[in-house]
Amino acid sequence: MSDNQVNQKRRRLLIGVTSAIGAVGVGGIAVPFIGSWSPSARARAAGAPVKADISKLEPGQMVIIEWRGKPVFVVRRTEETLANLTKRDDALRDPNCEEGEQPEYVSKIHRSIKPEYLVLTGICTHLGCSPKFRPELAPEDLGEEWLGGFFCPCHGSRFDLAGRVFKGVPAPTNLTVPPYKYISDTTIVIGVDGEEA
Ligand code: FES
Repeated sequence: MSDNQVNQKRRRLLIGVTSAIGAVGVGGIAVPFIGSWSPSARARAAGAPVKADISKLEPGQMVIIEWRGKPVFVVRRTEETLANLTKRDDALRDPNCEEGEQPEYVSKIHRSIKPEYLVLTGICTHLGCSPKFRPELAPEDLGEEWLGGFFCPCHGSRFDLAGRVFKGVPAPTNLTVPPYKYISDTTIVIGVDGEEA
């Protein structure tokens, strides 16, 4: 697939994401898209920080927030998900997050400031498609060992629920963690650096 085709596909995926406002996805997972935050759309496109209230996110759900024209995934992880994060380290390409982009203040185990809330740039590190949120355990199409994560439909890259890439897929590095910080218990600002975890 040429870069142009991939870009076109990515655009379609992003449009798909924006049209999913308030929709309930596969398995009853709400994947709302928060697109009406201040500052203005023009400022957001230019890269201004974006504030998001994540207080309504239930355990196991993901919300998609637009920042710099890209989807940012915010997942509220369950206790079970957090407990499972170390179970497949040997299948991951970079389980300790030595490469790829993530701010220094996020923990290397959870790749987040608070373990419960994962914040990731929703762009595959292969050729830039947007991976699908697949939190289910052992779905038929992803296999018995799948403990939840993200699956890229373009060329099959797989990431766990910390955005860490599995071995044997085209994506070279873990999904990126953008700069962000908390300004209240359940309000984050994406695009500015936070404090030490
Ligand atoms: S863009 Fe190729 S696997 Fe995601």
